Amino acid sequence: MSKTTAAITAVGGYVPDYVLTNQILETMVDTNDEWITTRTGIKERRILKDAEKGTSYLAIQAAQNLIDKSGIDPLEIDMVIMATATPDLPVAATGVYVATEIGATNAFSYDLQAACSSFLYGMSTAAAFIESGRYKKVLLIGADKMSSIIDYTDRTTCIIFGDGAGAVLFEPNTEGLGLQDEMLRSDGSGRQCLKIEAGGSLLPASAETVANKQHYVYQDGKTVFKFAVSNMADISADIMVRNKLTNEDVDWLVPHQANMRIIDATARRMGVTDEKVLKNIHRYGNTTSATLPLLLHDFENNLKKGDNLIFASFGGGFTWGSIFLKWAYNS
Ligand code: UT7
Repeated sequence: MSKTTAAITAVGGYVPDYVLTNQILETMVDTNDEWITTRTGIKERRILKDAEKGTSYLAIQAAQNLIDKSGIDPLEIDMVIMATATPDLPVAATGVYVATEIGATNAFSYDLQAACSSFLYGMSTAAAFIESGRYKKVLLIGADKMSSIIDYTDRTTCIIFGDGAGAVLFEPNTEGLGLQDEMLRSDGSGRQCLKIEAGGSLLPASAETVANKQHYVYQDGKTVFKFAVSNMADISADIMVRNKLTNEDVDWLVPHQANMRIIDATARRMGVTDEKVLKNIHRYGNTTSATLPLLLHDFENNLKKGDNLIFASFGGGFTWGSIFLKWAYNS
């Protein structure tokens, strides 16, 4: 009997309508389009302006887009994994609400949080449930309303992040397609470099923490950049070596969209030419858990059955890794 692998069989995505351009940011903080473009590659990002709507709204739109495109009956979904760093509520998993809202009422759901690597780790989790034979249809959603945790007076973070969501469906495959290999890592010494200090069990929210702006994202950009460049590039090169892939064998690099310079460094290290690197950072900025599925959503028509994809991410924690996946369908 051929081995069961876990393949992506459908993709969906959603970004909100409001476009926050570099030019608008110039009116909000002391920055300029040239600095942002050369340092990050970002031109604009999408923001969910409606204060009444949280991450679940983005996730529901992306999942609904997948359901509409694929024609899948939501009642057949066994499990919904919600990758997010910005849950609607600290307690009451966002995925549970999303699953119910999209009609996946036979599924169980939970949230998975590993900052910018949430979706990559979620791919590993989804695939493990499929490979084991335990479940047949696992919906993995990556969604973040980053604008809800960003201080729009802090020029070092507000220029980077945006809101968005993407969703993929994992199903069993017996043709040898889907997830082939993974290398996932984490290092807790990085937690001081990229964090939200308050609102957790260590420092519960109070009037003082709010006054001190400790409910917003803090990032030591320089240090994170250094670790991101070396770790994301190294692990992507390592997974190629372990799977005996040359740069010619790699059809697409699907990298977390944090900074164009990190993406370029990873591609260089792998020897992968620019036309094989999926990018939309200029349009969306860093959408945290949504960057990888939004790339699949935007470039779905370019991906062909049998193509070799290398996914790579780096995020707070620190968390990082790489996944080798064979694409399973022509759209
Ligand atoms: O996805 C999760 C993982 N996160 C990342 O991968 C992000 C990694 N880090 C980065 O992408 C970069 O470090 C940043 C884009 C955040 C910053 O770029 P940088 O080249 O590392 O800049 P820097 O922090 O070293 O700052 C250089 C200068 C500083 O001025 P001085 O001290 O040299 O006078 C900053 O104050 O640029 C200044 N600066 C800005 N200037 C204009 C910082 N932010 C801005 C800004 N506009 N928005």
